[in-house]
Amino acid sequence: MAEIFGKPLITQEAMRARICELGKQISKDYQGKDLVVIGILKGAYVFFADLVRVIQLPIEIDFLIATGTKKSGRPAKTVKIWTELNENISRRHVLLVEDIVDSGLTAQYLVSKLHKHRPASVAVCTLLSKPGNRQIEIEVQYVGFEVPPVYIVGYGLDFEQKYRNLPYLAKMAPERA
Ligand code: IMP
Ligand code: MG
Repeated sequence: MAEIFGKPLITQEAMRARICELGKQISKDYQGKDLVVIGILKGAYVFFADLVRVIQLPIEIDFLIATGTKKSGRPAKTVKIWTELNENISRRHVLLVEDIVDSGLTAQYLVSKLHKHRPASVAVCTLLSKPGNRQIEIEVQYVGFEVPPVYIVGYGLDFEQKYRNLPYLAKMAPERA
């Protein structure tokens, strides 16, 4: 796949260093607190595995599978959650782990759904953020990298379900996307 995508947009080394920093910050912020870290599949699966291993707290983990679909003729995209939580998050601190916050609609929808379980708090950690594409205001407490509004694949992120296994982040050429 290296032939298709060429140079990484963000190298594995840069990613490793930044994820370490995020892990340290999260470990500090949630010291002494009961934390459940929830990965949003499929996109966050690689980042999630790297992130939880640098959080030095006795956390619990859980996952949700969510997809966003843009229906033709409808202005807004709709988000669907396909699974239920396994852990009880009531009165516990929740950290939602996303691959990328683009318009912000997915993250906002997930946060509002999680609040229905009456957690002590909900925060969002995303590997990537495209602030230039934001359609709604959403607080994202932990951001790995801010990126320009280009289409990105690899490291969990897909284009039509492919390229999630590319071991680094690469820009999808406009003629392919
Ligand atoms: P939002 O709801 O517009 O914030 O979009 C978030 C979701 O859209 C992410 O969880 C991704 O699945 C997908 N997405 C947005 N931008 C990209 C990208 O550049 N590459 C791959 N997936 C993306
Ligand atoms: Mg996706």
